[in-house]
Amino acid sequence: MTEQEQSAAVNKRIVGAAPAGARDEAAASVAVRDMFTSIAPRYDLLNHVLSMNIDRVWWNRTARVFSDILRQPQAQVLDLCCGTGDMTFALHRRMNRGQLFGADFSHAMLVRAEQKSGERKIRWIEADALNLPFAADQFQLVTSAFGFRNLANYDRGLAEIHRVLAPGGEIGILDFGEPKGLIGKIYRVYFKRVLPAIGTMISGVSGPYAYLPASVLRFPAPEEMLQRMRDVGYVDVSWTPYTFGIAGLYRGRKAGARGQGSAKHHSASSDSRSFVGLKASSG
Ligand SMILES: C[S@@+](CC[C@H](N)C(=O)[O-])C[C@H]1O[C@@H](n2cnc3c(N)ncnc32)[C@H](O)[C@@H]1O
Repeated sequence: MTEQEQSAAVNKRIVGAAPAGARDEAAASVAVRDMFTSIAPRYDLLNHVLSMNIDRVWWNRTARVFSDILRQPQAQVLDLCCGTGDMTFALHRRMNRGQLFGADFSHAMLVRAEQKSGERKIRWIEADALNLPFAADQFQLVTSAFGFRNLANYDRGLAEIHRVLAPGGEIGILDFGEPKGLIGKIYRVYFKRVLPAIGTMISGVSGPYAYLPASVLRFPAPEEMLQRMRDVGYVDVSWTPYTFGIAGLYRGRKAGARGQGSAKHHSASSDSRSFVGLKASSG
């Protein structure tokens, strides 16, 4: 089989992220986790340099969109693929007395998140987004910033989020897009050439910054992603471009009346690997 045929076969099998060399979903997942673990110590620095700090604007804008939910005193909120926690902190700033979880499958990323969290009461959970250690119908809001694109199976990721959302609960996926027109052309040069070079230089690891543009190219275009969301059962789905479509926010809702979450499921299940230094629920 030629290299091209091999990669076509992998693409057919994996409808999700597929770092070079990964032959199936399990291998893709491990490769993604290892990749983020390898850059965890430099992740924040790289993020801010490479995005010229615009990532802060995107996180805050996303949190603002969900202000109404975040203000509810009983809100249960999960930030998935939380990494070193910046999206989680943006949500926290708008919360009232609800409970906030940050989940990621890279221990090293969670170590950084925990170190940065100070006095904030956030529960950091080491968990795979494709197999969440939470009961059904728990959350009023599940977000994921620049993490969803890395899942080895997008439909399973959407279904797992749908499962843990309470009826009426909302999903917010912030991720990269592909801007069109002249801006798109300039951006593609930056994203495919400049960004991998700087990323590799600062982190000392080449894989992740070659993977980044490839993973964005692989990610479904907005229309396809919205259809996938509908197919899983989300209603009121939408995509809002941020900064000429360099990033964008996918939103959707689990059908049902708002606020029907089941009160008994307010913590991670006992078999989840709560991260060291776990803090009490916010109150
Ligand atoms: C690009 S980082 C984003 C981190 C953070 N949300 C942000 O906006 O900076 C992607 C994160 O997704 C996590 N991730 C990828 N696939 C995952 C999965 N299947 N389960 C849990 N976390 C995952 C990685 O470990 C990494 O920390």
